[in-house]
Amino acid sequence: MKTDIRNRKDIELLVDTFYDTIKTDAVIGFLFTEVAHVNWETHLPRMYDFWENILFYTGNYNGSPMQVHKELHSKCPMKPEHFEHWVIVFTTTVDQLFVGEKASEIKERALNIAQVIQYKTLGN
Ligand code: HEM
Repeated sequence: MKTDIRNRKDIELLVDTFYDTIKTDAVIGFLFTEVAHVNWETHLPRMYDFWENILFYTGNYNGSPMQVHKELHSKCPMKPEHFEHWVIVFTTTVDQLFVGEKASEIKERALNIAQVIQYKTLGN
């Protein structure tokens, strides 16, 4: 039976599952693997911190996502469709694994942050 997102272990499962899908995703996978050449060993723990801080206010994330996505956009222009697709994959992954208040909250926050990153990066 599905539970809500309760702790860091649950966030790790969500993040790992999400990026497993993203790595081979036909629409945006190449941005991670061929444009950014992401080092997954460092990226995944950073994303655990990012989402744990958002859901549980741990204060353990201090990166600069805007800068990272602006740099990516300068290497390979991104489109609104890329962000829309990111949100669909993220939301689908959450729904596959979890149900509850925190699960709803993380989907809402992801959509809002995606819109802000998209606006600040693409200007639309
Ligand atoms: C088309 C959509 C997106 C693409 C292609 C993308 C791609 C990337 C890439 C390539 C990195 C750098 C990874 C590395 O080299 O370590 C990154 C970092 C990151 N992304 Fe995204 N991203 C997207 C959307 C989002 C969204 C919607 C969020 C949040 C809801 C997000 C949150 C982050 C965060 C927190 C980092 C780490 C920044 C840091 O502290 O270094 N991304 N993303």
